[in-house]
Amino acid sequence: MNKNVEKVEISGIRKFFNLVNEVDGAISLTLGQPDFNVPESIKAGIVKALEENKTEYTSNAGILPLRERISSYLESLGISFLADEICITIGGSEGLYSVLSALVEPGEKVLIPAIGYPAYENILKIIDSEPVTYNLNEDFTLNIEDIEGKIKKYGIRKIILSYPSNPTGAILSLEDRKKIAELIKKYDIIALTDEIYSSLCYDEYYSIAQVKELKDNIIYIGGFSKMFSMTGLRIGFIGAASKYMKEIMKVHQYNVSCAPSIIQWGIYYGFDLALEDLDRMKKSFVERRDLVYNRLKSMEIEVVKPKGAFYIFPSIKKYNISSKDFCEKLLFEKKLACVPGDAFGVAGDGFFRISYCYSKESLIEALDIIEQFISEI
Ligand SMILES: Cc1ncc(COP(=O)(O)O)c(C=O)c1O
Repeated sequence: MNKNVEKVEISGIRKFFNLVNEVDGAISLTLGQPDFNVPESIKAGIVKALEENKTEYTSNAGILPLRERISSYLESLGISFLADEICITIGGSEGLYSVLSALVEPGEKVLIPAIGYPAYENILKIIDSEPVTYNLNEDFTLNIEDIEGKIKKYGIRKIILSYPSNPTGAILSLEDRKKIAELIKKYDIIALTDEIYSSLCYDEYYSIAQVKELKDNIIYIGGFSKMFSMTGLRIGFIGAASKYMKEIMKVHQYNVSCAPSIIQWGIYYGFDLALEDLDRMKKSFVERRDLVYNRLKSMEIEVVKPKGAFYIFPSIKKYNISSKDFCEKLLFEKKLACVPGDAFGVAGDGFFRISYCYSKESLIEALDIIEQFISEI
């Protein structure tokens, strides 16, 4: 066996999701899977593509009309990547894997958030590189001093930024964008910005990719899994300057050839109308965010108000119990499944993640259970 792979464990989110099946009638708030159907315009687009027999391999980078549409969509957000600087991937996941495999050298240390999406750490381990975590502030924003200290200490050349964040729901502020841009420039490092949730920002959206003078330092990962509620249809994309894209394309090509043709066409045909669905989904997530946040606050649970994505990450530090014990008790004693915070890194111990992309009824029921549960521990 490849020793690097043996060192890696399957994601704690999945592990917990699988445990839920052992508990009859449990409510699960574990997955990042919006509860909306795929927008009708995209469904119709996929059927149309199938009927038109658009079922062959596409170019490795993906169909040009969709890359052009993604390019103009990003432009509307202040981010400039030409169609040729975009590669359509099999979800954000393949995007992350292809970029990290193409850019990071064996043994190289890469900065990742101390509380973050588990794939960063594990992909880096699989490709024989070394994740080094940077701390976040108490409100889950970037701890710029810690980042700079680690860049200097470890001679870091690459950093992963992840806003809006899974699991914390934090977003990048204008002020932090300025500060991190300065560091990227000063040390001439590459930032990989994972923006799979960028369409779900409930305050002003800022991205490091909007800083034009840093074009050669930024690689953008985006996708439609969350944006158009189509997690199982597996389409994401990478935006990168040609000098990087040239290398990324080699990994992408030998790994997957191309993303599924009819789904690419379906998104292209349905894009404009699906943006209206996105507005609706976003409004609904804001309502659910407020519902969950206000209830947790009323229970005097310490929690930071999320500003993006559809997760909330309450602290349980005051109960003196590990995240794992808290979530296991909650599941086995009260039939409610949430993800232990340490599934997102050691620094996540003392927190748990609620995915609030479930129905309001389930959320209300779950919050009643949490209220009861904390009164007993
Ligand atoms: C932060 C983050 N990045 C990337 C991904 C992967 O997205 P996809 O399902 O498009 O592969 C996820 C999925 O949950 C995520 O939370």
